[in-house]
Amino acid sequence: MSYIYPRIAARDQARNDYPPYRSTLLRAPKRPPIQLPHTISELSGPIYGHSSIGETDNDLTRQCTGEPLGERIIVSGKVMDQDGRPIRNTLIEVWQANAAGRYVHASDAHPAPLDPNFIGAGRTMTDDDGNYRFVTIKPGAYPWKNHFNAWRPAHIHFSLFGPAFITRLVTQMYFPNDPLMATDPISQSIADPQVLSRLVSQFDLNLTEPEWALGYRFNFVLRGREATPFEEHK
Ligand SMILES: [Fe+2]
Repeated sequence: MSYIYPRIAARDQARNDYPPYRSTLLRAPKRPPIQLPHTISELSGPIYGHSSIGETDNDLTRQCTGEPLGERIIVSGKVMDQDGRPIRNTLIEVWQANAAGRYVHASDAHPAPLDPNFIGAGRTMTDDDGNYRFVTIKPGAYPWKNHFNAWRPAHIHFSLFGPAFITRLVTQMYFPNDPLMATDPISQSIADPQVLSRLVSQFDLNLTEPEWALGYRFNFVLRGREATPFEEHK
C-alpha cells in the first residue's frame, strides 16, 4: 500500500534550536533541512504480537511485590491517524519518574527516594477502536540543571509506533494547570500554544473510578494537521 504522509510544518513541532533549552544548541542542525522523498522503509513498519505484552505491563502499580506510593491515576485515550481513524493494535510504551520525581536510572542524581515498588515503565497495545489504558502513579516534578532553579513539570514519556516508521512518535504528556509549564523550556520550545495544548491531558471524571483512581484522558494523532508534536528529551 502506498500512502502519502504530508510533511509536518515546523510551527507544529518543538524548535530544534531553542536557546533557553541549552543543549538544543549543540545538537540542532545549522543548515536548513534537505527534503527527501519517503522511502519504502519509512512507509512500512514493525508488527508486534499481543503475546509479547505481559498481564501487568499496562498497570505500573502491580509490577512489584507491593503497591507504589503516590496518587494512583488512570491514563487512557485513543490513537488516531491524520484523518481521525483509529490506529488499532499498535504498541504504546511509557516511562516516568515516581511520585517523588525520581527515575530508576543510573544517571538520575535527584536526591529523592526511589520506590521499591515502582519501576516506572509500561507498555500496551491499542484495541480494535484505537483505545489504550494505563494505571500508574502521578509522577512528581524533578529538577534539572538547564538553568538556575529549573524544574520539569510532571510528565509521562510516551513512545508510539503506529503503522509505519514515519508515524513513530516519542513525546511527553503533561497534566492540566501545572504552574511549572510556563518556565519549562522543553515544553515552551513549542511556540504555538494550541499545538502545545495537545500535550496536556484532561482530567476526566468519567474515566475516574470511585474510591480508586483519578482519570486523565490523552489522545494521540499520528501525523497530519492535528498531529501530536514530538518531545523527546529529559
Ligand atoms: Fe522525564
